[in-house]
Amino acid sequence: MGTSFRVFRAPILHFTARPDPVSGGGYEYFPDGVLVVRDGHVETLGSAADLSRQGLALEQCEHYPDKLLMPGLIDPHIHYPQTGVIASYGEQLIDWLNQYTFPAEQAFRDPEHGRIRASEFLDLLLESGTTTAMVYTTIFPQSTEAFFEAALERNLRMVAGKVMMDRNAPQGLRDTVASGVADTRSLIERWHGRGRLDYAVTPRFAPTSSREQLAAAGRLLREYEGVYLQTHLSENRGEIAWVGSLFPEARDYLDVYDSYGLLGPRSVFGHGIHLSERERGRLGETGSRIAFCPTSNLFLGSGLFDLAATEEAGIGVGVATDVGGGTSFSLLETLAEAYKVLQIQGQPLHPLIGLYMATLGNARTLALDDRIGNFESGKEADFILVDPGVSQVQKQRQERARSLDEVLFALMMLGDERNIAATYIQGVPVFQRDQLERESA
Ligand code: GUN
Ligand code: ZN
Repeated sequence: MGTSFRVFRAPILHFTARPDPVSGGGYEYFPDGVLVVRDGHVETLGSAADLSRQGLALEQCEHYPDKLLMPGLIDPHIHYPQTGVIASYGEQLIDWLNQYTFPAEQAFRDPEHGRIRASEFLDLLLESGTTTAMVYTTIFPQSTEAFFEAALERNLRMVAGKVMMDRNAPQGLRDTVASGVADTRSLIERWHGRGRLDYAVTPRFAPTSSREQLAAAGRLLREYEGVYLQTHLSENRGEIAWVGSLFPEARDYLDVYDSYGLLGPRSVFGHGIHLSERERGRLGETGSRIAFCPTSNLFLGSGLFDLAATEEAGIGVGVATDVGGGTSFSLLETLAEAYKVLQIQGQPLHPLIGLYMATLGNARTLALDDRIGNFESGKEADFILVDPGVSQVQKQRQERARSLDEVLFALMMLGDERNIAATYIQGVPVFQRDQLERESA
């Protein structure tokens, strides 16, 4: 086996901890930086001047002086089968599921449909600068199989799972306790830990699983070391009332999941908008994570996520698109909506915190921060080249930006997939928007 060696020179930004915008801690910015990648992993990161002094030949660099090189973006909550129903009019959660989402998911019975959609979905992620995601498939194991195959072929770090749903869903879109367990088990055995892939046990949400199915999901989590759990929690007021009537024995929505052993540091709950103090406390003490999905929460009229209260309870919060309830694949656009959701509650989101959340923060949300999320030596070299000014409005704003914070804030508020110039997986380019202008060093 030969070794591969590539050197990139550009302005480079990454996070080493949750940044402190006041003290300036938690991130490194190299206006003229170099990233050395060997065999798909970060070998060295530093300033061009320092590395040149240490003997690195700068002529061998791929040089992008007008771009910003950052870790790949990470999306901890997204539904690949819902690409086609993004932007479907007029309904809130439960009616939206019945009218648009469930019919779209039925089509994934056909394995060929799954293969085509999985491939298209991964292309959309990569062109949006997203290199890792935690993904819902459908109840059909062939749709999960198609997703993992497409991700393996592209060498992507992905977490995904087959949806478990044995009640309150249409005929033809339900599994059973037994088939859900058998299919999940065989998918875990085939895919968990293979390549860069991991498995998430995926009961859709409390209303579509029987008690027996939730209990079975808990047993699978305990049986297989390192698998994840993903589900939805406390998104919509009607949904919460429905959970109350379906599970009268539970103290609250979270208690349904808790009583079947579904909480913990590898559990990612989508939304968590309307939580009680008790629920937040319990999520915090179990190390459970929440995925904040601002475009979805606004689009479906679900509510305003309270980041400050959630973090004060000690809960790790990621930021996610939730396509197709969410309206954009772009985590930049998602951060702009996060800013507005929080601004209306008096919690303005600093761009350093926002970009931290979309990279190292989301790697932590997925307990993958030992592999991805920043350019610490030894990590997998998934990264993006960002052009902070591509549209007229962005260009004129960026020309006026007087500091890194201002550049990043304008990028966060005005940016989307058009700002992703290129995406690299383990040092290999997998997406380029236009012919990249490369300067020789
Ligand atoms: N709750 C249960 N299923 C879904 C889904 O597919 N999308 C969203 N946003 N919420 C859900
Ligand atoms: Zn969702």
